[in-house]
Amino acid sequence: MTDPLHRELLRLAQEAARRAGELLRDGRPADLAVARTKSSPIDVVTEMDIAAEKLITDLISGRRPDDGFLGEEGASAAGTSGVRWVIDPLDGTVNYLYGLPTWAVSIAAEQDGETVAGVVAAPMRGETYQAVRGGGAWATGAWEGERTLACRPAPPLDQALVSTGFNYVTDVRTHQAEVAARVVPLVRDIRRGGSAAIDLCDVACGRLDGYYERGLNPWDYAAGDLIAREAGALTGGRPGEGPSRELAVAGSPGVFEPLQGLLEDFGAWHD
Ligand code: IPD
Ligand code: CA
Ligand code: CA
Repeated sequence: MTDPLHRELLRLAQEAARRAGELLRDGRPADLAVARTKSSPIDVVTEMDIAAEKLITDLISGRRPDDGFLGEEGASAAGTSGVRWVIDPLDGTVNYLYGLPTWAVSIAAEQDGETVAGVVAAPMRGETYQAVRGGGAWATGAWEGERTLACRPAPPLDQALVSTGFNYVTDVRTHQAEVAARVVPLVRDIRRGGSAAIDLCDVACGRLDGYYERGLNPWDYAAGDLIAREAGALTGGRPGEGPSRELAVAGSPGVFEPLQGLLEDFGAWHD
């Protein structure tokens, strides 16, 4: 039995992610432009990132006025209820800007600092991934009902399909490319989808064997990390640690451990 509060938080996250996804899918201007940049000239924000975050925080704070927020586009409130929402209103902004389909709305609810519910809506796939702590992970889509998510049985690492991503800061991405060049001969192949949240859900769905990235923020991985874990994947950061800005790793048991070990040997978390 899962906690009724966690179920309530999940339902609210589902509603907010669905509505923000519809706004982003149906409201994307044909002449969508960059509104501003953040960590570097290629780290872009569009008016739609900002509008989607506002829709999500307005909806949630209307229903649960005492909750806290951490949102990529600036939502920040401590709250008094012990619940905090960690929100990436548009993960995969560069894909969205170019009209590529791999982007998502990612919403996680934390209770006393622990993620208890997570939703990643990927409108152009017509799929939404969700999990509640201790209650498993499942997807909804064009099919009837729910599909339980389970990560893939692990192949040997040299047959594993592994995804990664690159940071917006030039020095960091240069180092990431050097690490990826050392990883690629040791695995089946590398993918770069462009949405960390979808990468984590693809591990949960069995569409990837593993995923790693340096430089993520909590809003990138909070929901996807729970979904991957509830689908049976292992997730973490450097050995013995949880995911962090230094490193986030996810994979089927049997892929996760050797991948994390390689990344430690290659110093994937620093220049
Ligand atoms: C980015 C995506 C991308 C990852 C970057 C993230 P954004 O998020 O998740 O896949 O490689 O590190 O910053 O900027 O599109 O929300
Ligand atoms: Ca993101
Ligand atoms: Ca974003």
